Amino acid sequence: MEVKVGSVQIAVFNVDGDFFALFGRCPHQSAPLSRGRLQGTVICNADTCWETQWAHEGEVLVCPGHGMEYNIRSGKAFGYDLKLRTYEVAVEDGQVMLVM
Ligand code: FES
Repeated sequence: MEVKVGSVQIAVFNVDGDFFALFGRCPHQSAPLSRGRLQGTVICNADTCWETQWAHEGEVLVCPGHGMEYNIRSGKAFGYDLKLRTYEVAVEDGQVMLVM
């Protein structure tokens, strides 16, 4: 879901009971990241002997605009040198709170 704090849109996700909050607009062309889907991604590096592998299942946020992929835990983009701001999320008495 998307929440607005002041003038800032924040995308909040519940992944099997773990909550993640990230800046809610894609830095490419401002698509609303709360409408993105969660999936895995293909990786290839020295650790995989340069073989492609499907990894990070359920932890990759795909931008609904043009498909940039972000690690939902860190906010880092896959394949690009940029990072979304992330926010700490606390759950108390069934209430989900953003720690700003
Ligand atoms: S708006 Fe997100 S990839 Fe273009």
